[in-house]
Amino acid sequence: MKVLAPMAGITDGLFCSKLAPKGFDMVTIGGYNIDALTIDAGERIIQRGRSEFDIPLYDISNHIKQQIKIIRENNSWKGMISVNLRSTTPSSIIDISKLPGVDVVEINAHCRQPEIMELGCGQSLLNHPDKLYKFTSEVVNNALCRVSVKIRANVTGTDIIAVSKLIQDAGADFLHVDAMKPDHPHADHNIISAIKDGTDIFLIGNNSIKDGESANKMMSAGADGFSIARALIKGEVPFDLSTLETGYP
Ligand SMILES: Cc1cc2nc3c(=O)[nH]c(=O)nc-3n(C[C@H](O)[C@H](O)[C@H](O)COP(=O)(O)O)c2cc1C
Repeated sequence: MKVLAPMAGITDGLFCSKLAPKGFDMVTIGGYNIDALTIDAGERIIQRGRSEFDIPLYDISNHIKQQIKIIRENNSWKGMISVNLRSTTPSSIIDISKLPGVDVVEINAHCRQPEIMELGCGQSLLNHPDKLYKFTSEVVNNALCRVSVKIRANVTGTDIIAVSKLIQDAGADFLHVDAMKPDHPHADHNIISAIKDGTDIFLIGNNSIKDGESANKMMSAGADGFSIARALIKGEVPFDLSTLETGYP
C-alpha cells in the first residue's frame, strides 16, 4: 500500500485530490486537532509560527466531510481516505469515524509539539503504554471504520517493539511508523525489520522516502507499505509509484 502521509496545514482535500491519482492507495488528511484542548494547543502552536489546520470545534465534522467531498468529486480515484487526529479522548476520534466517507481514523501518537504532548497526546502516548493500549482499544471497539496508529521510532524511554505489539493487541488495522533516525537523512530500517519480526500487523513504513530506491529499501526492511510526506510538499510525486510492489490489506 502506497500512502500519502499527513502534514498539518498542508494535506487538505485539495492537496490530496491532486496527488491521489498518481499511484496512492491511501491518502491522509490532517492532522487535525479535534477537541477543545487540542484546538487550543494548535492555536498556541500557530502563534509561535508553525503551520496547523485551525478548524473551530463546531466545524470539525463539516470540514472533514468537505475535504472528503473534494477528494472524491475531483477524480475517479477509488483508494482509501484516512484522517490523522489529535485528541485527548477516544470519543472525539470515534465521532469522526462515523462520518460518511472516512475509511480510516489514524490516532496520532507521533506529534512532538510540546503544546500537544503536555496534554498527554501525540508522542507522549508512547511513554504511557497502558494509556495508549486503552485509548486504541476504545477507538477500535467503537469506530465505524478501520483504525491506524501513527508512531515515531527512536523516542527516548520507549520500547517500540512493546508499543507495536500492544497496538496490534488493541486490534488496530494499521501501524504507521515514522522510522526517524535522529541526525540521519534516511530511515532506521533496522527498526522496521524488528517491528516486522515482532508483530503481524499491517506495517506502513515512513521517513525520507523520496525515490524508488528509498521506497524499495523500506519494503526490503519488512514494511507492507510505505508513506511519503516531505517529498510531496511541492504538490508533485517525484518518482513513478506504479513500478513499486507493495502489500495490500
Ligand atoms: C509540515 C509537516 C507537518 C506534519 N504534520 C503531521 C501531522 O499532523 N500528523 C502526523 O502524524 N505527522 C505529521 N508530519 C510527519 C509526516 O507525516 C512524516 O511522518 C515525516 O515528515 C517523515 O516522513 P517524510 O520523510 O516522508 O517527510 C508532518 C510533517 C511535516 C513536514
